[in-house]
Amino acid sequence: SEKQEVSITFVKANGERIKAKGNVGDSILDIVVNNEIDLDGYGACEGTLTCSTCHLIFSKEVYDALPNKPTDEELDMLDLAYELTDTSRLGCQIIMTKKLDGIEVRVPSTINDARA
Ligand code: FES
Repeated sequence: SEKQEVSITFVKANGERIKAKGNVGDSILDIVVNNEIDLDGYGACEGTLTCSTCHLIFSKEVYDALPNKPTDEELDMLDLAYELTDTSRLGCQIIMTKKLDGIEVRVPSTINDARA
């Protein structure tokens, strides 16, 4: 099957915008890693739901359009993230769909590694 490309823009706390490309089926963590995006400490546990460093903040609209609801494990880990909002998710748990093509996500200014 043909790969379907999607893009995502990361907006850092300092206002810097980083646009990255990935494919449908990639997690947002995959896209950060594959594009070698420089987000300090992001994705420290490599998607095993033990760090919360992949915390991202979505607009309400995008949050509601995300393909999966957070599991209890994700919610527990989110509780340890700094700057938690009602529209926060862990990037390693979000799988890109065509519908999410072109979204913007906010990267919190402080990344907390819950393992530390
Ligand atoms: Fe560690 Fe997502 S990368 S919880």
